[in-house]
Amino acid sequence: ANIHGITTDCMTLTRFVLDEQRKYPSATGDLTQLLNAIIVAVKTISSSVRKAGIAQLYGLAGDVNVQGEEVKKLDDISNELMINMLESSYTTCLLVSEEDEKAIEIKSERSGKYIVCFDPLDGSSNIDCCVSIGTIFSIYRKDTTGKVSETDALQPGRQIVAAGYAVYGSATMLVLSLGSGTHGFTLDPAVGEFILSHPTMRVKERGNIYSINEGYTALWDPAVTQYVHEKKYPQKGKAYGARYVGSMVADVHRTLCYGGIFMYPATKDSPKGKLRLLYECNPIAYLLENAGGLATTGHMPVLDVQPTSIHERTPFFVGSRADVEELIEAYKRLA
Ligand code: AHG
Ligand code: MN
Ligand code: MN
Ligand code: MN
Repeated sequence: ANIHGITTDCMTLTRFVLDEQRKYPSATGDLTQLLNAIIVAVKTISSSVRKAGIAQLYGLAGDVNVQGEEVKKLDDISNELMINMLESSYTTCLLVSEEDEKAIEIKSERSGKYIVCFDPLDGSSNIDCCVSIGTIFSIYRKDTTGKVSETDALQPGRQIVAAGYAVYGSATMLVLSLGSGTHGFTLDPAVGEFILSHPTMRVKERGNIYSINEGYTALWDPAVTQYVHEKKYPQKGKAYGARYVGSMVADVHRTLCYGGIFMYPATKDSPKGKLRLLYECNPIAYLLENAGGLATTGHMPVLDVQPTSIHERTPFFVGSRADVEELIEAYKRLA
């Protein structure tokens, strides 16, 4: 409905999540409450990111995290926001964050049935130079009885209940899947609401962009070396274009929008790659598969990997089905 140029019935993310809940008569509304808590955290992170340059939020927080990375101020701010909003939603019992060595167990008087694994600020190396960054999350149900423990978070990505990412780019978008379709919402800063701008996003069957950090070329395995060579000197057809932002959320969002393949392979130096399975690879794999794409470790679907520790890493290839299948073929031939 549009009266005198004003939309009076826009589909906000809050409405969308509530509509989804109403499809399940047994739903308690806890997931809706949980997602609304994440939305508040993401809106606040977006606001902090966009004023970082004038609010002295650039630069280092002063310590090193469990990943061995120097923590940025915005890593800390984003992490605290996510933890506080999730804990006060009374819907979570366990939180796994890139920035916390141990899983965070929620006190019983505030605990609920969901487990959230998140990367509060993805692409930290790009904060100070104003390049797009993001936030990534995945939600599981606690599927054991008794007291919660860190092992409750070690579920394969197939068990994901909902997952999403925010990308703080030319606009702030939130891309979300609750299991049926992957949907894109754009933040209207004037209203402070996410509006459904990209319903049911589908990734192209094949793209013409490959995305990988070519600085590690000397360290790649034969399969990746052969695959990338084929993109540059194809037997038939045109060479692919190359794009690499260095913030996975930005590289993945471009892949979802334009097609192609994003790659973070194992290297000689890091035999399991760099990207973390629980709060980077699984949520992205879930979102892209629900948009018709594929996500593989090179040897198996990412969502089928049985995690053994909360910060474990995995080689990661994700994007257009035909492009990822070609990469899988390269591993079958050359691994
Ligand atoms: P984070 O900032 O959350 O630690 O993640 C950074 C990751 C990911 O965003 C990106 O794809 C990758 O690091 C880039 O790594 P390289 O600089 O080695 O290419
Ligand atoms: Mn990091
Ligand atoms: Mn990250
Ligand atoms: Mn991060």
